[in-house]
Amino acid sequence: MSKKYYYITTPLYYVNDKPHIGHAYTTIAADILARHKKAKDVEIFFQTGTDEHGSNIEKIAREKNAQPKKWADLISEEFKRMWKRLNINYDNFIRTTDKEHERKVQEIFENMIKNGDIYLGTYEGLYCLPCENFFDESELSDGNCPIHGKKVEKVSEESYFFKLSKYEDKLLQHYKNNPDFLSPSYRALEIINFAKSGLRDISVSRTKVSWGIPLLSNPKHTVYVWFDALLNYITGAGYGNRTPGKTDFNEIWPADVHFVGKEIYRFHAVIWPAMLMSLGLPLPKKVFAHGWWTFNGERMSKTRGNVINPEDIAKEYGADALRYFIFREVPFGQDGDFSSKSLQRRYNSDLANDLGNLFSRVLNMVNKYLEYEFPAKPENAAIFEKFTAMTPELDSKIENMQFSEALDKIWQAISILNKEIDFKKPWEMAKKNPEQLKPFLFDLIWCLRLIADWIYPFMPDTSTKMQIQLGIGKTDAPGIEIQKSLQLFPRKL
Ligand code: MSP
Repeated sequence: MSKKYYYITTPLYYVNDKPHIGHAYTTIAADILARHKKAKDVEIFFQTGTDEHGSNIEKIAREKNAQPKKWADLISEEFKRMWKRLNINYDNFIRTTDKEHERKVQEIFENMIKNGDIYLGTYEGLYCLPCENFFDESELSDGNCPIHGKKVEKVSEESYFFKLSKYEDKLLQHYKNNPDFLSPSYRALEIINFAKSGLRDISVSRTKVSWGIPLLSNPKHTVYVWFDALLNYITGAGYGNRTPGKTDFNEIWPADVHFVGKEIYRFHAVIWPAMLMSLGLPLPKKVFAHGWWTFNGERMSKTRGNVINPEDIAKEYGADALRYFIFREVPFGQDGDFSSKSLQRRYNSDLANDLGNLFSRVLNMVNKYLEYEFPAKPENAAIFEKFTAMTPELDSKIENMQFSEALDKIWQAISILNKEIDFKKPWEMAKKNPEQLKPFLFDLIWCLRLIADWIYPFMPDTSTKMQIQLGIGKTDAPGIEIQKSLQLFPRKL
């Protein structure tokens, strides 16, 4: 079997708390690309899920008086619910507590011990007991634990190590030979410099963390949570399946895009490819790191109480408006600031005014002057022809993850249509040159159908509503009747 699917992934989200806008951001990005490709008849495998092991989750569950697994069950359901609410169309939701995943991680770990890339050593570091965690000299504040302010102890603990150092040259070579691997390109240098600075072997097991996957050959160790979680990208795609299942690894791997936030770029662009090299597997084609959202200029955090719940926004403005806003407001890749004011401004101006008004005014005219007669074929549709020529450019923008640029182009087209209507005044045409009215309205309808197509990956609900109203799918039958015009985006005051 050879590769059949275009494979898109999001990170696996920690189950320490409910999903927030940052998680939604990465996941919607993946959904946009997936929908875009699907609309072009590309077969997609889109995987997301939850990262459920580790001392932090264990601690949080304990604080909530819950078993870690029970807690993880609860929160992973919250993620699934949120993705449904935001119209995310994933193919596979993997949890790191899935038995299949755990078994495969155990086997992979043993195989790496066998091939010599994982070895037993001693982890030496500065340890904070209340944290149950090691710190780097540079992380300390005044020589003390940055969290508890207490003295740290120099301790050593038995640990397995992954030979990251062995892959330094190979990684650098890979970055050089595959310029698309590190994306966007302005983030590449940070990774290259990091790799060049000398990679050290990393500790990949813990004896002090019980909420993790135990090693088969030495069960007092559990697998380090990142080592466990990164492997999801292959375990969820069918790697190590014992019986041929519905997912055939060779049809899916290598991943085409891993979407990640910039803070977890090194894990994905350095450690993960080295792990794959050790397994003798091809590397993902692209690791794309996006920026971070702040809220009114501040970092979002639970203690500040300024964490944005995407559900609240979806409730007020609709999921499509949220999807539109976060990808229109900021070039994907860079940091952005979220504010309710800018959301409302964009909603009213771009969605209610520009798109919403255009749509309802055209439909009203189609009703009034044509009694809902729809064009069978685009004939003499001058604007439509011009717009059609824009499609390849829009496609390539989406494929290069330039989502805000694509939306910007679409809105330029919307503005052209609004101006054309203002300028040509069809209501006057109806009186003075009625023979020109029909072709002009037909042209507008074709353009709106095209716009409905263009916005589909970003705003699937709105696109579908538009398509139904515009009689799409029934275009071979002229004179189709449609429902009464509807307001796509009621204004928010
Ligand atoms: N569990 C790890 C990933 C393991 S992948 C093998 C993890 N999880 S996370 O819950 O912290 O979520 C990470 C994702 O959420 C990243 O893509 C990150 O960028 C995104 N965001 C979390 N907060 C964010 C913002 N404030 N802004 C934008 N995205 C941010 O890391």
